[in-house]
Amino acid sequence: MKVVITGAAGQISYSLIPFLCEKGIFNSEEKLDLALVEIPGAMERLDGFVKELEDSAYSTVNTISTYDNIQDAVVDADWCLLVGSIPRGIVLNGKEIKERSDLLKINGGIFTEQGKAIGEKAKDNCKVLVVGNPANTNALIGYSNSSNKDHLWMAMTMLDGLRAKAQLSQKLNCHVDDIYRLAIFGNHSPTMFPDLENTNVNGKNAYELINDHAWVKNEYLPRIQQRGAEIIKARGASSASSAARAACDTVKAVEHPTRSGDVFNAAILSDGSYGIPEGIFSGFPLISDGSGNIEIVRDFNLSDFAKSKLEITANELLEERDLVQELI
Ligand SMILES: NC(=O)c1ccc[n+]([C@@H]2O[C@H](COP(=O)([O-])OP(=O)(O)OC[C@H]3O[C@@H](n4cnc5c(N)ncnc54)[C@H](O)[C@@H]3O)[C@@H](O)[C@H]2O)c1
Repeated sequence: MKVVITGAAGQISYSLIPFLCEKGIFNSEEKLDLALVEIPGAMERLDGFVKELEDSAYSTVNTISTYDNIQDAVVDADWCLLVGSIPRGIVLNGKEIKERSDLLKINGGIFTEQGKAIGEKAKDNCKVLVVGNPANTNALIGYSNSSNKDHLWMAMTMLDGLRAKAQLSQKLNCHVDDIYRLAIFGNHSPTMFPDLENTNVNGKNAYELINDHAWVKNEYLPRIQQRGAEIIKARGASSASSAARAACDTVKAVEHPTRSGDVFNAAILSDGSYGIPEGIFSGFPLISDGSGNIEIVRDFNLSDFAKSKLEITANELLEERDLVQELI
């Protein structure tokens, strides 16, 4: 089982790779061949991390290799976790990258190349999870540049889903595992929409249990949508441990059958479901059969309030797509 991870010397990967090496993440007894990818300037840092991974003596791991280019890394890959990207605020050629449009274009270049390489060289049943932001549109760029449309491309919205579950469990004083069908729709950005109207807690409707639309609208939604910014403010760095947990949970969710009556969260290419326009990567409620097939769950009832929120996040994704039109 070959697993490629880009941005392997970064802060998310420092937690993510050890999580992936625990038993039971992949639905296969095959041992892992880890292919860790970084930019040339970060290879020394990556070598230091590899020594730590070796010292962890994981029984799940077969080999650990490092690469400073994507083309060699992705040959025969089963999974590609695309974590590496250029963060907002970085200074490139003397210019600070502040605007979303600049960030989209710079990262677009990275995902164009990665999409091409994965399409040409990865295994036919390869699965790709884009974590690097702006994740949905990076996934669209990668997918559009891949010559293999059988590959499953996803962008990560699992972290938003976990945040939404954690806050709901506090409100309703229940365990996160008692929460079913909590879906994140749209973009992994402050416009994303966590839907509680179709969520069940111990068999009861979460919205009815809360019975307070003003709380959902004015407190719950902004708290989930702004959680990333809240963490950056407090920690001085973006969420890493929780993002790693979410990336590992996404792999596990795809690799194993979804528990009965539940969904998991990831953004995939829209087929027009729930009125989200085709041709953009949007968060949807998904189920997996544990054999590599995932599908959108289509029986969610959306109120006018939910539909208005979906329209906002879909419009943002369409705007992002317009900004990278020449890359897709
Ligand atoms: N989707 C989500 O829910 C979510 C959550 C948190 C963070 N993120 C995003 O994940 C990304 C990584 O976050 P981090 O905290 O690990 O950042 P980081 O800066 O610590 O690490 C990123 C690493 O990527 C490497 N890199 C850059 N370009 C690369 C390329 N072309 N090929 C291979 N490696 C490359 C960098 O050298 C760096 O080591 C960021 O874009 C962040 O915004 C997404």
